Amino acid sequence: MPEIKSIKDIIPAGSIIPVCTIDNPDRAVPLARTLQDCSIHVIEITLRTEGAFTAAENVINECPGMHVGIGTVTSVEQLHRAKETGAKFCVSPGMTERLVNTAGQLEMPYLPGVSTVSEVMAAREMGLHYLKFFPAESAGGIRILRMFRELFPDTRFCPTGGLNETNAADYLHQDNVFCIGGSWLAPRDRIDAADWAGITRKTGQLQ
Ligand code: 3PG
Repeated sequence: MPEIKSIKDIIPAGSIIPVCTIDNPDRAVPLARTLQDCSIHVIEITLRTEGAFTAAENVINECPGMHVGIGTVTSVEQLHRAKETGAKFCVSPGMTERLVNTAGQLEMPYLPGVSTVSEVMAAREMGLHYLKFFPAESAGGIRILRMFRELFPDTRFCPTGGLNETNAADYLHQDNVFCIGGSWLAPRDRIDAADWAGITRKTGQLQ
């Protein structure tokens, strides 16, 4: 099995990854610049809209300091397209052996999602020790993360799903958490409305 490039080489420990769903690709660059102005240099653009790859391409071409990842990856074709687009990493809500293998072949840093003990065990068998914990809040939240720490001291997580301004810091401070993700910093409707001031305000609350 090809070795998976670790996401930890792309995303500095302690990072917060804004998970962004962008309906209008023209919004992508001003959004990325807004995040960069708030000292956030990583963005996950989800494949939940038709223009997602165009949005990612716009940011890759115009915001060189931004690490652009493609999220909601559920097929190998999407992994190939992410590679062609120049994405720095890919994220999936779940995990399949085929996706893990393809990410390895493409040398694409990859963050697949897990939510159960068995899935963490399967991921570790495939050599993965950096995983998205999704959907974090519905799958048991911080209590399950603490259990994962006892069972798998060699594995780190990026909890995503249901994080917000109230619980984000608690997640980030868990020993086995290397970064966190979520849409609360740049919600879809705020991106659509080009509400850069609102996104700056939310992001400013993190500092
Ligand atoms: C994701 O794709 O990672 C999630 O949709 C993010 O979850 P959130 O919208 O609850 O932050």
